[in-house]
Amino acid sequence: MLAQNEFEETRRQYDFINQCREYVNKKSEAMGRPLSACIVTFGCQMNARDSEKLAGILGEMGYVITDSEDADFVIYNTCTVRENANLKVYGRLGHLKSIKQKRPGMIIALCGCMMQEEAVVEKIKQSHKHVDIVFGTHNIYKLAELLKAHIESGSMIIDIWKDTDRIVEDLPVERKYAFKTGINIMFGCNNFCSYCIVPYVRGRERSRNAEDIIKEIKQAVSEGVLEVMLLGQNVNSYGKDLANPKTFANLLTEIEKIDGLKRIRFMTSHPKDLSDELIEVMGNSKKISRHLHLPLQSGSSRILTAMNRHYTKEDFLILADKIKVACPDISLTTDIIVGFPGETNEDFLETLDVVQKVGFSSAYTFIYSKRTGTPAATMAKQVPEDVIKERFSRLLEVVQHEASLLAKQQVGSIQEVLVEEVNTHDDQMMTGRLSNNLIVHFSGRKDLIGQIIQVNLLECKGFYYIGEQIQP
Ligand code: 5AD
Ligand code: SF4
Repeated sequence: MLAQNEFEETRRQYDFINQCREYVNKKSEAMGRPLSACIVTFGCQMNARDSEKLAGILGEMGYVITDSEDADFVIYNTCTVRENANLKVYGRLGHLKSIKQKRPGMIIALCGCMMQEEAVVEKIKQSHKHVDIVFGTHNIYKLAELLKAHIESGSMIIDIWKDTDRIVEDLPVERKYAFKTGINIMFGCNNFCSYCIVPYVRGRERSRNAEDIIKEIKQAVSEGVLEVMLLGQNVNSYGKDLANPKTFANLLTEIEKIDGLKRIRFMTSHPKDLSDELIEVMGNSKKISRHLHLPLQSGSSRILTAMNRHYTKEDFLILADKIKVACPDISLTTDIIVGFPGETNEDFLETLDVVQKVGFSSAYTFIYSKRTGTPAATMAKQVPEDVIKERFSRLLEVVQHEASLLAKQQVGSIQEVLVEEVNTHDDQMMTGRLSNNLIVHFSGRKDLIGQIIQVNLLECKGFYYIGEQIQP
């Protein structure tokens, strides 16, 4: 249930939305056209979901959402997990400046993880004066309030909170897809993996009340959603901080009961917190998808200790086996970092060994990026770039080989597919997703989008399939 002050806050924000709507209406009348807004999302699914919330607020204010950055209001929802994410934002900000020069009255806002870093905000104040509004990860619900403050003052508005214990519910959301959606179940992270900046920019773990989560999912299902992706930096520790503690497995069991909901996904799972109870729930479930994203990071127990991951290579292998026994058709995917400080060739070979033993259906592989303020940034023995690059391509080769062997095993089977969109390269083909998260392209009609259908997997192209719809 909502605490009284959170309810008040929702009401306050609706007031600001209404006031901004008046501004948008007036401006649009004066210009003789609707005002447009564009949100550019960098980074993870959490940011994608935050962008849907921003889009919901913008829509309520009367903006028409567009993909073009040549718009009246542009928001960059930023990521800072690796340094190149930051560099991308600075690059694109330069380009936005030239658009703004030709478009008087254009408003530029920056939000998201990168804005939680003091040095970034300082740089924007000094060198990117064409930015109008800067806010962080904890206060995206305040978009209308911040816009109003900017319109009234005409100056750059900066509002960054270091942390929060607040979760403001029931604000508008504009979903990107009608048939699937992300649902936040918790915010923040308490793990402090030694390379990772996320706990510093997303704050401590805060779980949403199960009642609020269930209510939101039921509402989404009533509007046509078939698949939900439950989101949190570490979903396996869901509920530990609630007044009446609850486990993630309990929550999943309740969500499974929602009529009309067909598929449940979740991410991300930290291996150290993945309980036997959860494995059992997954094994018995009809709705939890046959896919688990389980970040390994490294296969070397020595490096895992330095990373502060709280599991060993053997723990990970045992866990992967347990999951495969409970869910034999599951597809496991992972994240791996190459070139963590002190990583030797032997450590790297341990990572390759785990990849071969587990058999991941895909892996996001990252070159270690030094993030100022994290313990790993000051560790001795940073690995030279050429060594990292060579290891990175060796890893990619092994990952791709294992993944395509696994994918080939499914050829000839008939699978349930949620049809997601028209194929981007061929408009006679549709693209859908299997329960195990792999993609299939098949010839079909547009009106299949948003439906779950049966598809025969005819051919495997490495990471995706070509299939054929089985007529009902
Ligand atoms: N360098 C490289 N990769 C990182 N990740 C997080 N921090 C870093 C970093 N400093 C990766 C991890 C995590 C994923 C979301 O991003 O693999 O699981
Ligand atoms: Fe970062 Fe580790 Fe938290 Fe994931 S669990 S967000 S890698 S600190």
